[in-house]
Amino acid sequence: MEKVNDLDLSNWKELTDVWTDSLWIIPNRDNSGAHNGHYHGNFVPQIPHQLLTRYTKQGDFVLDPFAGSGTTLIEAQRMGRNSIGIELQKTIVAEAIERIHSESRPGIVADTFVDDSRTFDTKRILETYKIQNVQFVIFHPPYWDIIKFSKDENDLSNSKTLESFLENFRQVVNNTISILENRRYCAVVIGDKYAKGQIVPLGFYCMQVMQQEGLVLKATIVKNFEETKGKANQLALWRRRALQNGLYIFKHEYIFVFRKEATQ
Ligand SMILES: C[S@@+](CC[C@H](N)C(=O)[O-])C[C@H]1O[C@@H](n2cnc3c(N)ncnc32)[C@H](O)[C@@H]1O
Repeated sequence: MEKVNDLDLSNWKELTDVWTDSLWIIPNRDNSGAHNGHYHGNFVPQIPHQLLTRYTKQGDFVLDPFAGSGTTLIEAQRMGRNSIGIELQKTIVAEAIERIHSESRPGIVADTFVDDSRTFDTKRILETYKIQNVQFVIFHPPYWDIIKFSKDENDLSNSKTLESFLENFRQVVNNTISILENRRYCAVVIGDKYAKGQIVPLGFYCMQVMQQEGLVLKATIVKNFEETKGKANQLALWRRRALQNGLYIFKHEYIFVFRKEATQ
């Protein structure tokens, strides 16, 4: 099999920092340096760190079409990977760029385009950086409308129905996967939501979208999360609701890993 990372497997017993289990318990966010974690709806840097360790090499290009506060770009830069973000909100990008640049490394690209990832002309990336394709894509979309990221109607968190959210997600996937190198990997980070007393399994729906688009599912990882900023003040209320309605309070989200096969 073609090698997609820089791990030295002749030394595999020493690679204790590289996770291979499907349950990720991450007690604390890595808040070092530019990773300040202020953005409501960010993910912990350990997620891109582990994924880039397993699925990319130094000098590869990583694409994040929901770049937000730039967690992927900061981590990629630290690891010697080039990275491109696409993010709808101009002010979020401006703030992210400042932090990303505070750790910039000579010769490593870490750029963000302000645009709609459904329709952004991805060939611009190839032309700008004179590359044939990218080697990894990480999708961390809004978990539909749990957090409203903006008032922009193109924002996936403003999708009016579940169907339109999934259709919008599908468009982002199609648009970006087109420049992913064959036999390389991509990942979706997503959680579920409750609505009207039942679970809306967004994770499984998005996983299905990826499979319908021809990507091969390679890993289903469950990751813990502690209280989100939104829920922290309402813990007692959530516990009462859970007890009353036969529910469980979400403490996990998913990371699905896929491979793009050569036939796509
Ligand atoms: C879950 S957050 C990603 C957070 C990011 N991983 C981080 O650590 O900061 C989702 C992001 O997608 C952005 N977004 C929503 N719809 C978009 C679209 N159509 N095109 C580009 N970005 C979009 C939102 O503004 C939000 O910043």
